[in-house]
Amino acid sequence: MGIPFALSLCMQVPDIRPLVTLNEGARFHPAPVATLRSDLGADFDLYLGVKVPGGRRYVLYKSREYDLTKERRRYLIEQGFTTLYITEEDLHRYLGYVDRAVSKVLASEATPRSEKSEILYRTTTSLMKHLFERPDSPVILHTNQKMVSHTVNCLASDPRMLRSLVSMFVFDYSLYHHSVNVATISVGLAFKIGYAAGPELTQLGHGFLFHDIGKSCLPTGLVRKPGALTPTEMVEMQSHPQHGVLLMQDRENMESTALDVILHHHEKISGRGYPHNLSGNEVTMPMRISAVADILDALTSNRSYKAALTGFEALKLMQEQMKYELDGDCIAALIRLLGPSR
Ligand SMILES: [Fe+2]
Ligand SMILES: [Fe+2]
Repeated sequence: MGIPFALSLCMQVPDIRPLVTLNEGARFHPAPVATLRSDLGADFDLYLGVKVPGGRRYVLYKSREYDLTKERRRYLIEQGFTTLYITEEDLHRYLGYVDRAVSKVLASEATPRSEKSEILYRTTTSLMKHLFERPDSPVILHTNQKMVSHTVNCLASDPRMLRSLVSMFVFDYSLYHHSVNVATISVGLAFKIGYAAGPELTQLGHGFLFHDIGKSCLPTGLVRKPGALTPTEMVEMQSHPQHGVLLMQDRENMESTALDVILHHHEKISGRGYPHNLSGNEVTMPMRISAVADILDALTSNRSYKAALTGFEALKLMQEQMKYELDGDCIAALIRLLGPSR
């Protein structure tokens, strides 16, 4: 049976809020091909996005009555498509599907570690991009929380997954890549320090993943500004932990341990962090873990105004120049975790 094709036209979807199109009110969301598996009941319409002058044209590739077969998925990859699109109407179906797909891939003993890492990393970064655009969406938040559980379970059952996941990292310091990089390193570090898989670590994982969600409340120009911030801009930027707590408190499955990480991931044991200038033992281990992971990702990411350090250079710098700011045990554990493998 053939695939029903239809054309639908709309303006280009902006990468950031607001998601607005002029196609009879339809809104399209990106669905990376890496999140789409074959023969898993893809019960939503899938569109190809074709760039045209002044916008993008959406062409129906597969309607919800038809599954994404191996052949159809292979065709997409062969043709160089990395992202397809779904409508707002199908967002719930798509999010349910990606959780099923990730669960199935991660549970399969036959699937190579690299493939598991790819689907987990690409799916979580895509979901975090959605969350920065729509931080108030319960279903997007919930699906992101599921990815935290997958990450915790995955690293608990196979610690070697950490290096595999790190090899997938994109170091562009975009909010969504940064969030997932920090969460992955933080969960790995927590295991190394002695945390066990369970509800506490999962809640901490929520804090790690959503640590910068408050930046979604700040002007895009400020968040993306290359180079140094003015003192006034710095004050505004440093309000993101409080914005994050305001966004995440009273949300389902967000407990105080998670909110504590969101509020205090910029505290330093020297007392020179923010927002509350906590010092010494007031800075708890989860706060120390997130601070170390956060700085590592900042140092190793490409920024328009500075070159990225290698992992080795960043760890050396942290160990030598930040020993009064950061937890020495965390840095040592990080070096054992990411340093040369024996
Ligand atoms: Fe932050
Ligand atoms: Fe951060």
